[in-house]
Amino acid sequence: MVEIKTPAELERMRRASRIVALALDLLKKEIKPGVSTAYLNGRAESEIRSRGAVPAFLGYRGYPAALCVSINEEVVHGIPSDKRTLREGDVVSLDLGAVYGGFYGDAAVTVAVGSVPPERRRLMEVTEESLARALGAVRSGAKLGDVSHAVESFVAERGMSVIREFTGHGIGRRLHEEPSIPNYGRPGSGITLKAGMTLAIEPMVSLGRPEVVIRNDAWTAVTADGSCSAHFEHTVAVTEDGCEVLSRA
Ligand code: MF3
Ligand code: CO
Repeated sequence: MVEIKTPAELERMRRASRIVALALDLLKKEIKPGVSTAYLNGRAESEIRSRGAVPAFLGYRGYPAALCVSINEEVVHGIPSDKRTLREGDVVSLDLGAVYGGFYGDAAVTVAVGSVPPERRRLMEVTEESLARALGAVRSGAKLGDVSHAVESFVAERGMSVIREFTGHGIGRRLHEEPSIPNYGRPGSGITLKAGMTLAIEPMVSLGRPEVVIRNDAWTAVTADGSCSAHFEHTVAVTEDGCEVLSRA
């Protein structure tokens, strides 16, 4: 069952998601060579708490931080560390969640550290645009498969791969609710979207093959072939004629 949120619930999700968006905007400005991923995590956590929210990922299934920082071949769930510092040319994904008044917001962006090679720039552009295409497919009456297909087709046509082992998700009173939202699928398949559903849509794309493996830390997902990957995510509410992006500052 996919929950339909009330206007009051949507208001809390707006607050939670906006706090995430503001924190991500702040983090983007901190991205430069030499910065440690633990520093970014600390900034993210204090920004969330200072706005009256709670980090959503900290302690989730034992995850040890507020922020996921995934660099280059790391796809998602990179654990911040004071031993890991950003380098010129890195592609860094920042994934952050917050809870406000019992409701969740979740978003991710990928940013370049200094100047990055054209192929990596293109990866970031294609991944971000694939999210835009997905959002463009969301509206009351559309099928979930239309959204999934919008990502997959856009990415495949550009010679890149969608990661299949992780998906987007419904979101609200919990970080992960129904439905699961794969970044691949058939148009016209899946559930029918309805106004008031809230979704976290999150394409993960690699320059090489789609397979991932999990590192020994039990969290960090990396591409099996070592190719670079990118990740963008927004929390959105389905409306009659489209969607409202909740995680935009
Ligand atoms: N955006 C990711 C997700 O929705 C982040 C989860 S990280 C975790 O799955 F630590 F909370 F698992
Ligand atoms: Co998510």
